[in-house]
Amino acid sequence: MLYMAATLPVIIIIRHFQKKLKLLNLKATVHISDNKATRENQLLFMNIMKRLSDPILILDNLNHIIMANKSAHELLGNDILKQEISIFIRNSNLTETLKKVYKTGNPEDCELKFGTPVTKHYLSRIHLFNLDNDNAENSKKYLFLTLYDVSTIKNTDKMRVDFVANASHELRTPLSSILGFVETLQGPARDDTEAHERFLKIMYDEASRMSRLIEDLLSLSRIERDEHIPPTGSVNLVPLIKNVINVLEPQAKDKDITISFFHNALKEITGDYDQLTQVVQNLIENAVKYGNEKTEIKITCDESIMPPPLNTKEVTITIVNEGPGIPAKHLPRLMERFYRVDSARSRSLGGTGLGLAIVKHIIQRHRGRIFFESKINATTKVTVSIPL
Ligand SMILES: Nc1ncnc2c1ncn2[C@@H]1O[C@H](COP(=O)(O)OP(=O)(O)OP(=O)(O)O)[C@@H](O)[C@H]1O
Ligand SMILES: [Mg+2]
Repeated sequence: MLYMAATLPVIIIIRHFQKKLKLLNLKATVHISDNKATRENQLLFMNIMKRLSDPILILDNLNHIIMANKSAHELLGNDILKQEISIFIRNSNLTETLKKVYKTGNPEDCELKFGTPVTKHYLSRIHLFNLDNDNAENSKKYLFLTLYDVSTIKNTDKMRVDFVANASHELRTPLSSILGFVETLQGPARDDTEAHERFLKIMYDEASRMSRLIEDLLSLSRIERDEHIPPTGSVNLVPLIKNVINVLEPQAKDKDITISFFHNALKEITGDYDQLTQVVQNLIENAVKYGNEKTEIKITCDESIMPPPLNTKEVTITIVNEGPGIPAKHLPRLMERFYRVDSARSRSLGGTGLGLAIVKHIIQRHRGRIFFESKINATTKVTVSIPL
């Protein structure tokens, strides 16, 4: 970076000469330098600048943009030259840092957040330099400014912080409930045998929820760890789905829900049997949990062709249940960890809010796709496709 800051004055000189030649209406090749090696270096450097994916700007002592590479134009617009930088990046932090670098001459970093419709995070590195490369008072000074897009790092950081906060909250709720009941059993309800039974049942349920949550968290971290390793097993989805239906039948019966399954004879797919069982189980369990009583869950499994331009074969599973449905605004976030449409309802049904996050990662490992469609007070349909 320091090398670039030191070499940049060369480009400004080149521009200066180019402009002069233009004014004189000269059509001849621009002789940037008499020395062939130096000229080649200059052209090479200009090409590197042009192709650098990070936006780069040169500012004069009035904070006017006097030079910008292609990425800077793509980010800030085509008409940025000769304009003050604050018109395009409104940020008091940047204004202060520019002042500071001018004053001290020392390079500084500054974090910026700007952009519409998507706000992005940038780390800006700012250096001061002058054309004569000496520190004479009257020499013209320039600022060299690079913008690094750090949005992914910022988002990952936020996700990590959110995750720890959510996981702690999910564990703290049942834990404080258990502690509360232990205190009651030791104190006011010491001799109340009827209360003992009731409280112990609640404590058991809460402890089971904590245990499920820890199992789900461990499962999620294992799946994420192996996500880049493609599965190698051969799986026939029809018996797999039948097994899951058998396991969930009693739960469905409790709500008077019937489960139907239509399929064609299918080829085996490459996949991980246990993980695909987890996917189907999570999705059918949701259909049972959030479906209305006395309704039907319709499951299908068929071969289909992927949309163009891929046109390759895949297996598609659909699960449709009748129920209150999912409002459209929740659909894009449904597979985030701990995201629930109705937290109280999910918790009362013993949910951890991790089911769909697990599903998402397993499907990603299988290079598949999943999407939800829902009509309020009518149906919710989940479609999962896995390449054959
Ligand atoms: N078929 C469905 N109908 C209506 N809402 C659904 C359906 N499937 C999922 N949801 C909503 O999506 C949320 C997230 O589902 P997810 O499976 O990740 O968590 P959960 O079911 O609450 O808990 P668990 O981790 O035990 O599965 C649910 O809380 C529910 O609000
Ligand atoms: Mg679930």
